[in-house]
Amino acid sequence: MTHSTLKTQNPNLILVIGGAGYIGSHIVADLLAEGHDITVFDNLSTGFKENIPRGVNFYHGDILNKGDLKGVFQQPFDCVMHFAALKAAGDSMLNPSKYAEHNISGSINILDAMLAANVKNIIFSSSAAVYGAPEYLPVDEKHPTHPENFYGYTKLAIEDILNWYAKLKNINFAALRYFNAAGYDALGRVSQLERNPANLLPIVMEIASGMRKKMQIFGDDYDTHDGTGVRDYIHVNDLATAHIKAMNFIMENNQSLTVNLATGEGFSVLDVIKAVEKITGQKINYEIVARRLGDPAELIAQALRADDILKWKAKHSSLENILETMWRVYRIHRQN
Ligand SMILES: NC(=O)c1ccc[n+]([C@@H]2O[C@H](COP(=O)([O-])OP(=O)(O)OC[C@H]3O[C@@H](n4cnc5c(N)ncnc54)[C@H](O)[C@@H]3O)[C@@H](O)[C@H]2O)c1
Repeated sequence: MTHSTLKTQNPNLILVIGGAGYIGSHIVADLLAEGHDITVFDNLSTGFKENIPRGVNFYHGDILNKGDLKGVFQQPFDCVMHFAALKAAGDSMLNPSKYAEHNISGSINILDAMLAANVKNIIFSSSAAVYGAPEYLPVDEKHPTHPENFYGYTKLAIEDILNWYAKLKNINFAALRYFNAAGYDALGRVSQLERNPANLLPIVMEIASGMRKKMQIFGDDYDTHDGTGVRDYIHVNDLATAHIKAMNFIMENNQSLTVNLATGEGFSVLDVIKAVEKITGQKINYEIVARRLGDPAELIAQALRADDILKWKAKHSSLENILETMWRVYRIHRQN
């Protein structure tokens, strides 16, 4: 068995907000396999109806619309998982108010709708972007949080609000700080490509499959083994396992937690490109351009707290497995 597919003794009623998206749909697949009762709430702005499996209820709604949230919370839930957000760091620097509204106000709307319906548990998709430029590596949860882009700031602001709601309103939350989410489901249950990806791995895969001609590498003069930026990539199946463990932990212990989800291992842009060329047999065309503001040379993290508290470790996040599972999906869309 590759990951969690055992039926649970204690099925929960779970509302997955943003569950039609890339990461959310992987968590939905595992929750369903465990026998939970799931409702996906999504406005399908970047998600896909095809990502919602049979046996899962779907509510088409927007977290900016309080009426939509009130509507879905007419049903009882034990736990909310919240994936809905705008996530392009560059765009957030150009359009901060859009990110404040979607991410921060949207999350407050969810919390208030939960409280009105007496739902006390929430799992939140936070991000490595809360840390900003690393002062030491690997980054742990005690590392200072000084986000360098507005997207990261919105995630940190939501974490602060979750902490206040935990104190003032007795909610339990898990804030899961993902590093670079990547890969596709090992069992092939998710097959929609991300729309307009801004992250390295889907962009390289789009080139390998002929959907895109060329990519840019932002800087090759960093202090890393080959001069290009080094990042920590975490497989979505590993993220899914962590969400289920975090849900069980906060509900069983009536406690909250904030943890990194990462591997502790880093790969450079050129490492990724070489590995993709080997796995796909396709040449990846790239050009080197200037560094981007705010991009650190290297960003890798320790997930010791997740190991300690949740007994979680990344098991599917070798670069090879990440890229092979992605290529299985992208090769279907191959255009060359
Ligand atoms: N992809 C990564 O590497 C990464 C890393 C760290 C954190 N995250 C966070 O994980 C979460 C999920 O990311 P993803 O990569 O799956 O993104 P995604 O865009 O594929 O998924 C987001 C989902 O939320 C839905 N949505 C967006 N705005 C909504 C709204 N106003 N109302 C209702 N639904 C809405 C979208 O339709 C989509 O289905 C986000 O919160 C993101 O910030 C992602």
